[in-house]
Amino acid sequence: MAKLWAGRFSKTTDETVNDFNSSIPFDNRLYPQDIEGSLAHSEMLARQGIITAADRDQIHSGLKEILQSMDAGEVEFDPAQYEDIHMCVEQLLTERIGQAGKRLHTGRSRNDQVALDMRLYVRQEILEVRDQVLHLIEVLTDVAEKNTATIMPGYTHLQRAQPVTFAYVLLAYVSMLKRDVRRLENTLDVLDECPLGSGALAGTTYDLDRHFTAEVLGFSQPCANAMDGVSDRDYCLEFLSDLSILMMHLSRLSEEVISWCSWEFKFIELDDAFSTGSSIMPQKKNPDICELIRGKTGRVYGDLMTLLTVMKGLPLAYDKDMQEDKECVFDAIDTVTMCLKVLPDMLSTMTVLTENMAAAGRKGFINATDCADYLTKKGMPFRDAYKLTGGLVARCIQEGRTLEQLTLKELRVESELFDESFYEAVDLLNAVKRRNTFGGPAPEQTEKQIAMARDFLQEHRKQDES
Ligand code: ARG
Repeated sequence: MAKLWAGRFSKTTDETVNDFNSSIPFDNRLYPQDIEGSLAHSEMLARQGIITAADRDQIHSGLKEILQSMDAGEVEFDPAQYEDIHMCVEQLLTERIGQAGKRLHTGRSRNDQVALDMRLYVRQEILEVRDQVLHLIEVLTDVAEKNTATIMPGYTHLQRAQPVTFAYVLLAYVSMLKRDVRRLENTLDVLDECPLGSGALAGTTYDLDRHFTAEVLGFSQPCANAMDGVSDRDYCLEFLSDLSILMMHLSRLSEEVISWCSWEFKFIELDDAFSTGSSIMPQKKNPDICELIRGKTGRVYGDLMTLLTVMKGLPLAYDKDMQEDKECVFDAIDTVTMCLKVLPDMLSTMTVLTENMAAAGRKGFINATDCADYLTKKGMPFRDAYKLTGGLVARCIQEGRTLEQLTLKELRVESELFDESFYEAVDLLNAVKRRNTFGGPAPEQTEKQIAMARDFLQEHRKQDES
């Protein structure tokens, strides 16, 4: 098949070179964006009197037909025939409508074309991922709402530390995910400049109305410098970085779930539909989903590193290296959207084993700080109270007892400050309720956090409607 650029060449492309050079096997997913860009470009060309209204009409109906056939899966994206999706659409158009099709590329280069297509695609996918993250926030908030009084140990260094609730732990992940949403929205803001009209690198000699196309395509302005316009992939990097951070959060949550469903913790039980078995060990029920999410995080980081490295040595303006932006961005999107598809249902169907969480809370002296605080509030300097409590803990460990099992008599040997109210102070639910400062685990506070999460969901979903 002769290339659109064959004029200057006396030989056809070597077959291996053709395969090596061709991006259509992976960039064909950009066809809706490519056609959307061409519709806007040809509309503008007609408005500016660069092509006739009749040509524009033919181009438009041709493009719409091509869109339909591509939607219907009727076009074979064959690298032997088409180098990339941009050439493919243009070739098909000319095959369909003849002369007028050949006028479409007036005042345009594949460089600004691909820069536009990629931006339109990333913009759409940011919204998609954002919606999925909002859904995950909702699911976590729903589970949290049912567990504001579900006591469990909070950990530092994976050692039992202080009493919290299951709701509180989940809401920590909600806070992370809220930041992910804000990061994605910020990237939308960063990419909000239209590269169309940048030409190959230095604009064009035609009187293009770049503000018109920018507006039609939903951008607030055209990008200010054509060389930058064709070679800017910062928004891809920002998006990949947003996705990497998001995956890091999903991976941390996955790691917790993996621990929680182990026999060592047994804080939750995953639904059978969201677990897998072993081919040899009949007893096994494995949290494969979480392990895959944890594993795929590495893959998304890899996508970010790929593009950072691709871009780092490129001279202005367009270089073919940039074609390598596609597969890593697509792979990251596919990976993240798949993870976000399975995770919410896995979480909403899991069983929370509240008694096991409470039992874990009763071991490990997670109320030791409360004991020290108890004495401090009665007038003992905190450092002394800390030391005295440490002594009590050491004794309890030796005797296989817990702090609340010490009798008042035993306690009063250590300090006169102990009285009956001690037992109330080290009760775990009370200890949680008393952590009632803003951002704390007291049910009153977690209810506020839940309300804030619901407000956040409403606000960020409303943006879609506006
Ligand atoms: N397939 C190319 C890409 O994705 C399109 C741009 C090609 N431009 C060029 N001057 N060869 O980057």
